[in-house]
Amino acid sequence: MENKQIAITEFGGPEVLALQTTAVPKPKAGEVLVKVAFAGVNPIDVKTRAGLGWAASQNKDNLPWVPGYDISGQVVELGDGASRFGCGDKVAGFIGFPLQGGGYSQYVCVSEQELSLVPDSVMLEAAAALPLGGQTAVQALDKSQLKEGEKVLILAGAGGVGHLAIQIAVAAKAEVYTTCSEVNLDYMATLGAHAINYQFAPVSQRLDGIDVLIDLVGGDAALDALKCLNDNARVITVPTISAEMICEKAKLLGFEASGMLVDPNPEQLDTMLYMVSVGLLKTEVFATYPLEQAAQAHQQIETGHTRGKVLLDMQ
Ligand SMILES: NC(=O)c1ccc[n+]([C@@H]2O[C@H](COP(=O)([O-])OP(=O)(O)OC[C@H]3O[C@@H](n4cnc5c(N)ncnc54)[C@H](OP(=O)(O)O)[C@@H]3O)[C@@H](O)[C@H]2O)c1
Repeated sequence: MENKQIAITEFGGPEVLALQTTAVPKPKAGEVLVKVAFAGVNPIDVKTRAGLGWAASQNKDNLPWVPGYDISGQVVELGDGASRFGCGDKVAGFIGFPLQGGGYSQYVCVSEQELSLVPDSVMLEAAAALPLGGQTAVQALDKSQLKEGEKVLILAGAGGVGHLAIQIAVAAKAEVYTTCSEVNLDYMATLGAHAINYQFAPVSQRLDGIDVLIDLVGGDAALDALKCLNDNARVITVPTISAEMICEKAKLLGFEASGMLVDPNPEQLDTMLYMVSVGLLKTEVFATYPLEQAAQAHQQIETGHTRGKVLLDMQ
């Protein structure tokens, strides 16, 4: 049996992603072998492929390197002592973060502690759309200490993180505002958010009295959004590249502000899978590409206008 993978052969454009074939790995003690159905594509995969950020600098002498942190699939073999899952179980996880990756593989060995059981009623596509983005959404909202009845502004509500963050904030009974382009206004409303078209005018001209800002855009859009906030508002800025600058500015204005780095937490994925199974959370998959078209999947993320998630079909 062979194991097709997509690897970063050198840092550069989408064309550096190459198909490679290796042997199917053997699970070590405490691991399971997962036959991957879908791998999620995240902006960090694209940045790492371009040679940017911490995962790239740590892996620069380790190429070809197989990216991918989000997987869903089926357990097909158990390592010694692995007992949480049985062969045939559907699982999903946010795996190997940040140094190991490996999700763009047909087969991958994963510590069973990193995985969640996917309920029967949840499609494997939906399960692959949740891990990194969903845990980022949950952790950003937790860190902001958003409370029932508060007004939260989520920048980029239509993206991989944003569409989940909106629904989780709505479920927490917050009053949710978001920014998006014209094409996504209706979509944002269906998720329960008051949507503001950032292409029409800066959000600061349309909104005030916000208690919590969840920034998923960074840069000038985040600086403008600071003008919408109440005294004593809290700011969580998620894109790492501009986090320091935005936190500095926010603190000067008297707000509490911090950046964040998502931390894999399978219990949070368990909860989101449950929410999907009972219809409280809907994942949006913009496109699913066959693994051979990983370069196109990266190009789609690079447009900056993906609605929801992009997946790779690994089989
Ligand atoms: N620190 C961490 O641990 C961590 C974890 C996860 C993600 N991140 C970062 O967080 C950011 C969001 O991640 P993601 O996966 O959600 O990205 P994504 O899915 O690629 O985001 C795409 C979305 O951004 C929206 N968008 C683009 N420009 C916008 C603007 N100026 N104002 C409002 N919306 C805008 C687009 O909506 P329209 O088409 O409507 O414009 C699109 O739906 C990325 O920078 C990512 O690297 C950081």
